[in-house]
Amino acid sequence: METSKDLDARAREILRRNDRGAYTVPTADLYPHQWNWDSAFAALGLATFDLDRAWTEFETLLAGQWGSGMVPHILFHERDTDYFPGPEVWDSPGDIPSSGISQPPVAATLVRRIWERDRVGYEDRMRALFPKLAAWHGWFMEWRLDRGAVCITHPWEAGRDNAPDWDEAMSRINPHGVNGYVRHDTKCVDPDMRPTKLDYDRYIWLVDRGREVNWDEGERQKNCDFRVADPTMTFILLRANLDLTAIGYRLGEDTSALEEWTGILADGAETLWNPSLACFDSRDANSGAWANCVSNASFLCWYAGIHRDEMRRHYDRVTSSVAYGIPSHDPDSSKFDPQRYWRGPVWPVINTLAGIGMAESGLKREAGAVREFTSELIRRNGFFEYYNPCDGSPAGGRDFTWTAAIWLAWASQGAGDDKWA
Ligand code: SER
Repeated sequence: METSKDLDARAREILRRNDRGAYTVPTADLYPHQWNWDSAFAALGLATFDLDRAWTEFETLLAGQWGSGMVPHILFHERDTDYFPGPEVWDSPGDIPSSGISQPPVAATLVRRIWERDRVGYEDRMRALFPKLAAWHGWFMEWRLDRGAVCITHPWEAGRDNAPDWDEAMSRINPHGVNGYVRHDTKCVDPDMRPTKLDYDRYIWLVDRGREVNWDEGERQKNCDFRVADPTMTFILLRANLDLTAIGYRLGEDTSALEEWTGILADGAETLWNPSLACFDSRDANSGAWANCVSNASFLCWYAGIHRDEMRRHYDRVTSSVAYGIPSHDPDSSKFDPQRYWRGPVWPVINTLAGIGMAESGLKREAGAVREFTSELIRRNGFFEYYNPCDGSPAGGRDFTWTAAIWLAWASQGAGDDKWA
């Protein structure tokens, strides 16, 4: 097995190789453009050895912001004929070709982390990013709330594409009229590790609906076929908003709107508590129905500063059923599939956020375990997109940017003693 130092060097090499100059691709074949939350994690990793480049990563991401404040989940800086669905399918109105949906806003939290560790010389860049991040948060507040919880309008928006959380809402979509298409993802990765054909038909059907109204959120709200209040978005925005408020205080900016939003989101997060499951859950905003899913996103509650003893018990239960936590879906559920993307595999990216939250909440044992799971998976297999939680085998894309970044900033023994744990 490679030493921690060897792995540090490999992680840096992956970040360098996936660097396209002013942005980083998640992995060369499968995701050859700039993805929103992947990019923020890339910056976290880059900051461990090239601080200036880390700031550029955020600046490039925010350069793709729409006039509405929305920051797209994919920016197509270069035309790549293979990725599907490419810019012509989205046909979105931004200055930089992009998708028409957003992604979990981890950027404020991660840029705060980078800035607070090394502020000298970066205040002007932080000041320039602040209003853009605030406008993005404001866009969620204006368009995406249901009882104060944040809704997604496409499974790709939560980042947890084929999670069982969306099964019920997606089952109501009959993807008639979707044009023929060729998937690129299943050429890069074993199809058993990816969403199904029916999932993809529905994803594209939803993209077609957004494109038809030119991605106008007002129009989309009137006739929304898929609208689910989601713990990923709600906990991550709540946390990001607290971090942006802290940035604003330090810059001497007006933070009153951000503080108001924090209160709304904190109340909204409570509406994701499913009492019969005794867990934070996804809730269909159209039908009101619970998804009844214990997912790895449920364990982001601590990251948002919300504590529940029941969640600790769920954490003990789900992690004791697998060799490596945190599984993306409950191993005791009939829908658990340890190979298939967000229906079971363990994801370093969610482990990092959950681990940070646990450490900050005083759950030292749980935080230590989740970091050790992540670290061991990387040490044994290298830097994959996700891993099978039962046997630890690697899955999805290889030489993955956010896994390398997480190694450098959080999971490696050399990451330093101040690592949110
Ligand atoms: N995750 C989606 C894909 O697999 C899009 O964000 O391409």
